[in-house]
Formats: sequence, C-alpha cells, structure tokens
Amino acid sequence: MKLWGGRFTKEENQLVHKFNASIDFDQRMYRQDIEGSIAHVTMLAAQGILTDAEKDIIIKNLQQIRSEVEDGTLVITEEYEDIHSFVESVLIERTGDVGKKLHTGRSRNDQVALDMKLYVRDEIDEIDTLLKKLLQTLLSMMEQNLDTYMPGFTHLQKAQPVTFAHHLGAYFEMFKRDRGRLSDIRSRMNLCPLGAGALAGTTYPLDRELTASLLHFDGPTLNSMDSVSDRDYLVELLSALSTIMIHLSRFCEEIILWNSNEYRFIELDDAYSTGSSIMPQKKNPDIAELIRGKTGRVFGALTTMLTVLKGIPLAYNKDMQEDKELTFDAIDTVKGCLVLFEGMIRSMHVKKEIMEISSKRGFTNATDAADYLVRHGVPFRDAHGIIGQLVLICIDRGISLDELPLEEFKKVCPVFEEDVYEAISLKTCVEQRQTLGAPGRAAMEKVITLEKKYLED
Ligand code: ARG
Repeated sequence: MKLWGGRFTKEENQLVHKFNASIDFDQRMYRQDIEGSIAHVTMLAAQGILTDAEKDIIIKNLQQIRSEVEDGTLVITEEYEDIHSFVESVLIERTGDVGKKLHTGRSRNDQVALDMKLYVRDEIDEIDTLLKKLLQTLLSMMEQNLDTYMPGFTHLQKAQPVTFAHHLGAYFEMFKRDRGRLSDIRSRMNLCPLGAGALAGTTYPLDRELTASLLHFDGPTLNSMDSVSDRDYLVELLSALSTIMIHLSRFCEEIILWNSNEYRFIELDDAYSTGSSIMPQKKNPDIAELIRGKTGRVFGALTTMLTVLKGIPLAYNKDMQEDKELTFDAIDTVKGCLVLFEGMIRSMHVKKEIMEISSKRGFTNATDAADYLVRHGVPFRDAHGIIGQLVLICIDRGISLDELPLEEFKKVCPVFEEDVYEAISLKTCVEQRQTLGAPGRAAMEKVITLEKKYLED
C-alpha cells in the first residue's frame, strides 16, 4: 500500500519494504500525526485551499480513525510504510477524493519533523512530571532526616559528618537541574516545521503562523531546509536524558553500597529486592543495579544519534528515520527508571542509628578538632599537624578522638581544655556548619523553604 506508486513500474521487493518501513515503531506517534493533520487542514480551509465542507469531512474522519486506533477496532498493520501513510491511506479509503486533498502543500518530510517534535514535547512534559514527583519525595525525606547524622565521604573515605538530609539534598539539586535542562530544550525546539514541504516550502499560500499556533508552538521555523533536517533537539534531549541517568546511576550505586552488609545505612524494602536461586540468605538490590545498568543504553542512544547526523547533507535523508527507535527507547527507559527509583527510595528503611555510629568512627571530626585549636590561637597548619598526631595515637589504641583522655590531648598540645569534647561532638560538628548550603539544621531549613517554593511555582 504505497502513497508513491505512480512513478514505479515494479512491485517493491518484500525485504526492501521491511527494511525501509518504520511503521512498527513510528505507529506510537499516531496521535501526533493526526493532531498535525487536523491543524494542517484547518489552516488549508482558512486559506481557501480546501472548502470548509472538505475540511469537516477530513477532520471528522481523522478523529474517527484516532478513536478506532485507540480502542483497538482499527489495527495498524505492517503493509503500510509508516504511520503517515497508514493514516492517509485509511482516510482515503473512507473519504475518497476528499481525503486525497489532505496532503496538499505538505511532504512527509515536514510531517515527520512535526510528528517527532510533537511526540518529544509530550514526553518531555511527562518526564518533567516524574522528575517533580521524585523531587517531592526527596524533599519530604530531607525534612524527616535533618538530624540523621551520617559520614560524608571523599575518595570513599570518611571525611566530615553531614546529615542524610544534606546528602539527599545534593541529588535534589541534580534532578532540579535536569528539569531545567528539559525546559530549556522544550522552549528552544518549540517552533513548528510544518509548511517546509519536502525541503523548499510550497507554492500554496499556507499560513504557517496559524498552523504553528493551532499546535501550540511559539511560531514557525524560519528555514525550510533546516526545518526538515534539524534533529538537534534530539541530541539535546538524549544528552539531558543521559544526564538524568547519570544522576540515577550514581544514586543507585550509593544505595547498593548503603544496602550492603558492610554499610547497612539503609535497607531496601522487600518489594524492591530480589532473592537468589541458590543462596537462601540473599536479598539483592536488583532494581538499583538494573537502573545503573540501563544507563548504558541511554548513553548509547546519544552516541548513535550524534553519529547518524554527522555526515548527512542537506536536507532530508532517510538516515533520519534512525532517530526514532533509539529516542523512543531512551525515553521509555528514563521514564521506567524514574518511576521505579522513586518507589524504591520512598519505601527504603533508613537506619539512623547505624549511620550515626558510622559517623562517629573514622575521625570525621578531625577538621573540627583542628578548628578548635585555631579558635585558641594555633595557626591552622600547626593545628592540622597536632590533630594528625592525635589521630595516630587513637588509631593505635582503637579509639575515636572523643574517647581520648584530656591528659593525652594536653601532652600533644597544652591548649586543649575540657570543652574540646563538646567542640568535637558529632552534633556540634554538623550544627556549626551553617553556611548556606551546609548541613547545619538552620541552614538546611532555609534551603528546604526555598526548594518548597520552587516546587510550588
Ligand atoms: N518514516 C520516515 C522517517 O521517519 C518518514 C519520512 C519519509 N520521507 C521520505 N521522503 N522518505 O523519516
């Protein structure tokens, strides 16, 4: 069932048809394809290119096709080349000569450029909703964990104490930037390519502004060759999706560590864990691992897209059909991962006591001990050396700094007094950190207020 049989004398070879066709994956754009066609005929009628009666018949039938595809009475089959051919062919079967006028002043090149933009725009909105939900979950977990002390790490070595709220807050910022990136992409891509024709516009008096506004674009694109060959927004989208996956994957890596018997900072809910077929004791973090693993396919989509585009001369070339499967797969992957990830962290059990015990070990208060000396007039570099010596003594005895008797402190440096214990307590170490963005409770509360406002806007 070909729209372009006129010039051809031979039937297309079956292998060629299958290789060339995109219907098995572009059928998911049927709603956008119909939406675009409805806007196109509305504009054609407004310009007097079609009559109002013709327009009404076409729109009524397009809507009918849409609802039949939706309820399954009309099945999209592989005999058609792509979703555009399918919709137009069915329309023509049902309306005859009237339907044959739908494609006036249009090419599949600007049509597919439009459909893909409409599709991506809808998906960006859905991903944004999922990101927002994740941010809401993170924020409420942050509010519940303002006093949950945990070690902060550098080089995966204990560094300084923070709180679980603060650690979660780092991811909050990442996912917030992800939303910002999607919104930037959405506004940059939001120009309507329809009316570009095959590549050089058309001789019909189309009103491209009208079509653009009917489809909620900010306006029409300004160069017809660019309109049909621009896939920059897909590169940007796949890059933004890759960044979301980086964030999810890093978070998953931490969750896998925290859930291990060595850390035990959290315990994943049974619903988000799996067992082993041989080892009865096992409860594995498969979901976190799978999300980490799926990151690769989204990066792969980005690399493929970049490679597909790099050598294509202007304007449309069939290479561009390769933009779809990988973009769809990346979108599905990110959406699936976001849903599962949100459920996984919302249901995980946070083991506050174990995090606190862990923060007390590993000399996370050593910087604060040095700062204590600085406050008593010792230059920082000397203080650093003194605390280093004390840490060595503690390691030797298998104790933490706050378990060392005052005489021992004084032997190394006479400046120490009884109040050193208060100064290096876990609570003090965290609470003294009140610079904006730091883990101290008041500083965190300020940030949480700002983030709440951000989520309300
Ligand atoms: N299936 C095609 C694609 O995804 C639609 C455009 C076809 N245009 C053409 N001139 N062959 O790119």
